[in-house]
Amino acid sequence: MRVVSGIQPTGSLHLGNYLGAIRNWVRMQDGMEPGSQCLFFLADLHAISMPHNPAELRAATLEMTAALVACGIDPARSILFNQAQVPQHSELQWLLNGTARMGWLNRMTQWKDKAGKNREGQSVALFTYPVLQAADVLLYQATHVPVGEDQKQHLELARDIAQKFNVDYCGLGSGLEDTPVFTLPEPIVPPEAARIMSLRDGTAKMSKSDPSDMSRINLADDADAMAAKIKKAKTDPGLLPSELAGLAGRPEALNLVSIFAALEGSTPDAVLARFAGQGFGAFKPAMAELVVETLGPIRQRFVELKEDRESLDAILARGAAQARAIGGPTLTAAYNALGLVRGG
Ligand code: TYM
Repeated sequence: MRVVSGIQPTGSLHLGNYLGAIRNWVRMQDGMEPGSQCLFFLADLHAISMPHNPAELRAATLEMTAALVACGIDPARSILFNQAQVPQHSELQWLLNGTARMGWLNRMTQWKDKAGKNREGQSVALFTYPVLQAADVLLYQATHVPVGEDQKQHLELARDIAQKFNVDYCGLGSGLEDTPVFTLPEPIVPPEAARIMSLRDGTAKMSKSDPSDMSRINLADDADAMAAKIKKAKTDPGLLPSELAGLAGRPEALNLVSIFAALEGSTPDAVLARFAGQGFGAFKPAMAELVVETLGPIRQRFVELKEDRESLDAILARGAAQARAIGGPTLTAAYNALGLVRGG
């Protein structure tokens, strides 16, 4: 079993990232059997697909490293690295560009959402973003990729690319009979927190790029800021029902109840059984307490770690060396399968 996943170092790690992905990374790391491996990385190459400030990207990459360690990623047990320090990701992306189809990329919802009506004005990187994401996981023969719901489509594309490459270049006549180069990766999406929504709009996902900071709870927020954001979270005047079905058509209420359940490791129905008949005046303070109780200790570690630049640099250097060693043979196999001559 090989687990691989990444996060873009743009902005601060938020509650959606934590519940949708990072908590699962930590669980998979902690449950690792001998012989299995976890690789987690900062997807800084993906971050340049949108306009960005280089100084901010550099700082955010180290901060996100500190955030992941604070969440429980242990660099002694998992390989933690930065994408730009492992050039094989970019190399493999180019090789996969020959297999990925324009039509596949055109169907990606993230591309359609981010590009909107202005497709002509977008960077080529935003369009080919999913091919780099495929390279990220195929390079390491990932078997499991823990992600939130929004990344599932990109993982399905990675499977399609791997499948087509294996069929086109590793089949009969290639000289590499029946030796597929790539493993098909399985996305692992948590059932309970696959899509955490904005605190300001229950129909939009919680996102690092939302211009309103009130829309998300950041790991970097202090306890007062977390509580204030929950207090101001958009809700409706209704009371909480006793069952999940009663939240139909109430996206903000459903989101808060789902976050509560995910944080305490129960279900929305169990949460509603406790708060049925009460309004948000009673629910929100309990939720604020739970958020602060869960994220507070992580934030504390994050605040200390992010100042230790030397340790963070050392973690990334060591992780990159380990990742390069694992990725090397697959990259060589891909060059060979394509008939590319590289010499001795
Ligand atoms: P990114 O940086 O947007 O998010 C990191 C992880 O957090 C999950 N996530 C959420 N889950 C639930 N609710 C939300 N509101 C929410 N927002 C974000 C994401 O699904 C993701 O798992 N393209 C990826 C980074 C990436 C990657 C990869 C992931 C690059 N290469 C290879 C897996 C494998 C991204 O932008 O995630």
